[in-house]
Amino acid sequence: MQNVDEDTITQIVLARHADATDPRLKQIMTSMVQHLHAFARDVELTEEEWFKGIQFLTDVGHITDDNRQEFILLSDTLGLSMLVTALNNRKPRECTESTVFGPFFVENAPQYQNGDDVANGAKGEPCFVTGRITGIGGEPVPNARVEVWQADSDGFYDVQYEGVTSNQGRGMLRSLADGSFHFRSVTAESYPIPHDGPVGRMLAALGRHPWRPAHLHFMIEAPGYERLITHVFRSGDEYLDSDAVFGVRSSLVADWQQHAPGRAPDGTEIDTSFRTLDFTFVLNQAGAAVRSNAA
Ligand code: BEZ
Ligand code: FE
Repeated sequence: MQNVDEDTITQIVLARHADATDPRLKQIMTSMVQHLHAFARDVELTEEEWFKGIQFLTDVGHITDDNRQEFILLSDTLGLSMLVTALNNRKPRECTESTVFGPFFVENAPQYQNGDDVANGAKGEPCFVTGRITGIGGEPVPNARVEVWQADSDGFYDVQYEGVTSNQGRGMLRSLADGSFHFRSVTAESYPIPHDGPVGRMLAALGRHPWRPAHLHFMIEAPGYERLITHVFRSGDEYLDSDAVFGVRSSLVADWQQHAPGRAPDGTEIDTSFRTLDFTFVLNQAGAAVRSNAA
């Protein structure tokens, strides 16, 4: 008969996986059990603490619905999302780095032509964005699908407003023959991730803030290239070194130049300050051998 005690339990649990038919599932669950048990031993987890953890995860589940994904926020704030992104997006150092997807992407955002205003009523200082999409060799990538989404000057995405049904601060456009694209929008501002739930309480208990530095989200797809999901961050933002979800890569930080009122790049006269941002996105070839861009 097995004697289940603190020294034997890990091996006894793992032995029960012997008949698992999916080898990858077996590998993942074996490692997870080993790490969970090691963690409990490491901190000498008390029964009270274990139950607090169960209650916390229950709260995370209860607040989660179609619009609020607290488990992803938990993964994001523990750095797991960014780690999984990094593990799965190793590429040559010349390529634009990937970062977290986030919860505010919306399918079927409106299609725009180059030069259009994707703000579509979102509040904020005007911002004129130009970009260029190339491959590693510098070759332009025409007709790439460029999805952009962003927060407004109050730090909210359109989907966070009750009753806002039109898409604001998001859209899809195509790169031109020379790989370039350009659009007008508003200047994205830093914002706190949703923190009125258990993850917010966890952050507060850990002495952490919920803020993300200002950024634009991009998802870029073109035949023959790997899909790129990334951000462009605004240099000078106070949260660049303490992003609540650990998404900042220094190569993704750019100057969003501020200009006095006057003639904008699209020829219009603007009576407030406005910004310009220019960024080149370098796509990895599809199916390219994986090389790390670390080191
Ligand atoms: C975002 O950038 O949209 C985001 C990412 C992770 C958690 C919350 C928001
Ligand atoms: Fe965001």
